[in-house]
Amino acid sequence: MNDTYRNFVNSPLGARVVRSLGLPQPEVLRRYRIGQREAEFGGIAAIGAGPAPSLFEVLAGVLERIGMTSVAHEQALAWLAIAQRRQSMSGRFAPVAPNASAQERVAALIFDATGIADSLQLDAAYAFFHDTLRSLGACGRIVVLGRPPERCAHPRQWTAQRALEGFVRSLGKEARHGITANLIYVGDGAEDGIEATLRFFLSPRSAFVSGQAVRIEAATIDAIDDWTRPLAGRRALVTGAARGIGAAIAQALADLGARVAGLDIEALHDTLSVTMHGIDGAAIDCDIAAPEAPQQIADALDAMGGVDIVVHNAGITQDKTIAKMTADAWRNVIAVNLAAQERIDEELLSRGTLRDGGRIVAVSSIGGIAGNVGQTNYAASKAGVIGRVQCLAGGLRERRIAINAVAPGFIETHMTAKMPFALREAGRRMNSLSQGGEPGDVAQTIAWLAHPGAAGITGQVVRVCGQSLFGA
Ligand SMILES: NC(=O)c1ccc[n+]([C@@H]2O[C@H](COP(=O)([O-])OP(=O)(O)OC[C@H]3O[C@@H](n4cnc5c(N)ncnc54)[C@H](O)[C@@H]3O)[C@@H](O)[C@H]2O)c1
Repeated sequence: MNDTYRNFVNSPLGARVVRSLGLPQPEVLRRYRIGQREAEFGGIAAIGAGPAPSLFEVLAGVLERIGMTSVAHEQALAWLAIAQRRQSMSGRFAPVAPNASAQERVAALIFDATGIADSLQLDAAYAFFHDTLRSLGACGRIVVLGRPPERCAHPRQWTAQRALEGFVRSLGKEARHGITANLIYVGDGAEDGIEATLRFFLSPRSAFVSGQAVRIEAATIDAIDDWTRPLAGRRALVTGAARGIGAAIAQALADLGARVAGLDIEALHDTLSVTMHGIDGAAIDCDIAAPEAPQQIADALDAMGGVDIVVHNAGITQDKTIAKMTADAWRNVIAVNLAAQERIDEELLSRGTLRDGGRIVAVSSIGGIAGNVGQTNYAASKAGVIGRVQCLAGGLRERRIAINAVAPGFIETHMTAKMPFALREAGRRMNSLSQGGEPGDVAQTIAWLAHPGAAGITGQVVRVCGQSLFGA
C-alpha cells in the first residue's frame, strides 16, 4: 500500500512542513529487493567494546567476507592489531562533521559487550555510542553482542548483561533516520555460529527489525558453500502463500535456493498458481482447518520427498469485542491460526515428513504480545503460537529442528487495508521507524531463521515491527 505521508515527508516541501510542526519523519528505508544482491553490504563499521571482548576474531572474519571496512573506537584499540594481522583495512574512529555526506558516515556501529561483567563496566557502552551515534548514516545498523544473562555464573555479570536490553532498545528509539538497533546474546560455544545472524542484522534485509534481543546457542551448523543460495537443495512449505506476507515468504525462500510448495484455500487457486509459477514452486489447494488437512499436506509433501522448512503463515481475523463476538468467530480464528499449526506439525513430525535438521517458523503477531481491543480470539491464537514455539523447542533439539516465531507489527497487506483509516494511520506511525512494514520485511526475517547458519536460534520470538510501541 502507498504510504502517502512518508512520500510527502521525503519531498523538499514536506520535509520543511513536518520539521516545523514536529511531526514524525519516516525515512525511506533501504531494503533488500529480490535479485539486488550487489547492494547488500558495504561501508565502514565502527567497532567498540567493553573489557575483554571475545568476538573480535569472529567479527573481523565476517566483516572481511561481506566486504565492510572498519574503524576502531579508542576503547577498542585491540581491534587494530587483529585487523592488521588479517591485513584488513582499518583505522581509528574519528567523528564526522554534523553536515557530513552519507558517504562520509559509518554504516554500522558494532559493540562487543561479551566481556562486561559488572554494571560499572557499562560505561564503555555509554562512551562508544556517545561518541559515535551522530556519525552513523541514515538506515545505519547498530549491533550489540553480549552473553545470555541467564547463563552468566555471577549475579553482577547477569545484571550487566541484562541491562544491555534496555540500553539497546533505547538506542533504537533515539536513533531515528531508519536506523535499527539489535542485541545478539551469544552463548558459550556459539561464537562460530553468529555469521548468518550478523549478516542479517547488518544488511537491508532487517530494515524493519529493531529493538530485538536474539539468543544464539551452540549448534551444529552445516557448511555454507554459497551465501547467496544457502537453501539450495532444501524444500519448504509455506501456508497462506497466495498473497500478502505468505507470497513474499515463498519468494524470499526461493530466492535463497529453496524449492517451495505454497498452500492456500481453493478459492485463491488462481492467485496461488500465479505466485508459485513465478518461483517454479508447487501449489497445494487446502483449507488448513479442515479435519483431513494434516494428512493431505503430509501426503503431498511426502510425494515431493519430504520437507526441511515449514512456515505457518496462514491466518485470519474476525474482530469483535468479546460481548459481541459470535462463537463461530472465536472458533474459526483459533482453528486457523493456532489449532491447524498444532495438528499439521504433529503429523509432519510423527511421520518424519519434516526432516531432521529442519526448521519450523510460525507467524505470530504483536497482537499476541500486547493484546488488542476486538481481538481476544486473534490475540489468544497468536499468543498460543508463541507458547507452542517455546514449549516445543527443547524436545526438537534432539532432531536438530529449530522452531521460532516471528511477530509482525503493522505490515501493509490486505489484512491491514481492511482497518478503519484512523486506526491504520496510528498503527503505521506508532513505532520507532514511524511507518508500516512491507511483507518482504517479514519474509526476510523468516528466511534468516530458516537459514542453515541460524541453527543455534530456537524457541524464540522475533518481532518485525519497527520497534512498535505496542507490547513494548
Ligand atoms: N498484515 C499485518 O499487519 C500482520 C500483522 C501481524 C501478523 N500478521 C499475520 O501474518 C500472516 C499473513 O497475514 P497477511 O497480512 O499476509 O494476510 P492475508 O489475508 O493477506 O493473507 C493470509 C493468507 O492466508 C490464507 N488463509 C487464510 N485461511 C486459510 C486456511 N484456512 N487455509 C489455508 N490458507 C488460509 C488466505 O487465503 C491468505 O492468502 C497471518 O498469520 C497474520 O495473522 C499480519
